[in-house]
Amino acid sequence: MINKYPYTLLYTLLLTTTLLSVDTLAETGKRPDVASAKNGKPLYETYCQSCHGEQGVGEPAPPMSIRDPSFFFAPALDDSQHAWHHSDEDLVKFILEGSPRTPRMVAWKKVLSRTDVRNIVAYIKSLWGDRAIKCQGPKHMSCM
Ligand code: HEC
Repeated sequence: MINKYPYTLLYTLLLTTTLLSVDTLAETGKRPDVASAKNGKPLYETYCQSCHGEQGVGEPAPPMSIRDPSFFFAPALDDSQHAWHHSDEDLVKFILEGSPRTPRMVAWKKVLSRTDVRNIVAYIKSLWGDRAIKCQGPKHMSCM
């Protein structure tokens, strides 16, 4: 007879990992977990991509010299600009509350739950390289 014990152990481990990951969807300085990033991707594509671009490349902006300074373009959210200078918590807060500078970046709390937004942050972080992950947040200045 096949010994079922190893399978039981495996399932228990999987379940524990899933349950524990519920509140560690994304953590500053750490790679997001794959499931959260996967949940965040379709939300990003529905609500954010029209401005922040496919895979977070940002909105194409004309050169500074000819652009209207009062119009805010959507920055890149991949690791090419400064999204990674913020902690996860700050990103979540900014997305929920919106920008104080422009009504273009609305307060998404009217539309999305905190969990949705954490999943979106996990997706955004899945677009970052290892260096941005390691140096994320307040320590970005001393880390590079
Ligand atoms: C209608 C266009 C638009 C949409 C849609 C939009 N944003 Fe934005 N977003 C902006 C603009 C413009 C800014 C710049 C705001 C500023 O400079 O204060 C911004 C800024 C941000 C920032 C700050 C980035 C940084 O480097 O400081 C984050 C994070 C962000 N948006 C996430 C999101 C997410 C997540 C969604 C989808 C839920 C979303 N945005 C949808 C226009 C948009």
